[in-house]
Amino acid sequence: MMSDNAPARIQHKRRYLMCRPEHFTVSYSINPWMEPANPTDTAKAVAQWQKLYDTYLELGHEVELIDPLPGYPDMVYTANGGFVIDGVAYGPEFRYVERQGEAPAFIDWFRANGFDTRVPEEVNEGEGDFLLAGDVILAGTGFRSTGDSHAEVARVFDREVVSLTLIDPRFYHLDTALTILDPVVEPGAEPGIAYLPHAFDDASRAELERRFPNAILVSDEDGAVFGLNSASDGRNVIISPRATGFEAQLRERGYTPILIDLSELLLGGGGIKCCTLELRGASAVTE
Ligand code: ARG
Repeated sequence: MMSDNAPARIQHKRRYLMCRPEHFTVSYSINPWMEPANPTDTAKAVAQWQKLYDTYLELGHEVELIDPLPGYPDMVYTANGGFVIDGVAYGPEFRYVERQGEAPAFIDWFRANGFDTRVPEEVNEGEGDFLLAGDVILAGTGFRSTGDSHAEVARVFDREVVSLTLIDPRFYHLDTALTILDPVVEPGAEPGIAYLPHAFDDASRAELERRFPNAILVSDEDGAVFGLNSASDGRNVIISPRATGFEAQLRERGYTPILIDLSELLLGGGGIKCCTLELRGASAVTE
């Protein structure tokens, strides 16, 4: 139920980069979700992904595509391919050798599409670990992106960066443990966010409580089904159908949850947000 005093939510049109999972499989393991002995169904992954893609278009968003590379089954998780604000694209430097060949493809794509492209020196996995919350960048570390990459990203974008330490290997990227519900807010306003408190160390949790007193705290059950790996346009929040508690919390706050099942892509340890990289244009492509 939507509570009577929930604010009216306004949609902001987004622009995303996605990659059709034509070569999706689980042939190696770099996170606890990946089990190469279990079979995967590439056609099913493509069909589930297509549903997400179609939903974005139906909502009026723009979606760009990058060509999938054979031999890179994780390239579908485009959130790791960079971090883009105001037309500046900070490229990825993947932690594990299995994904390192994706980086030049993303960097070439940004260049070919007119972004001011910065090649990183530090290990970082793009929007998997960097999320824009109002004016500040929330940056995850502990498993993938390094603390040095947080300093690099602060220099590239000349913005405040808040480092957050992840402690549970199942939630190895920031976007598996925290989601931004309001992609656009008035300067200085607190953006709506949701997070899984147990995924963070004590200091990071205290920092989140201080900065986001109105955040939605998500249950372990909803976190464990990747409920936080979601994409919001400020009104519509695309989430896993298994995150039923989070779905109710979103409705209470006046958001519109849309349920999309990416169960096949979860076998690779990724969900809705992982398959979605925000392309924030030079003129802030928002309404
Ligand atoms: N198998 C991929 C990896 O371990 C999954 C990446 C998920 N991406 C994300 N943004 N959380 O790198």
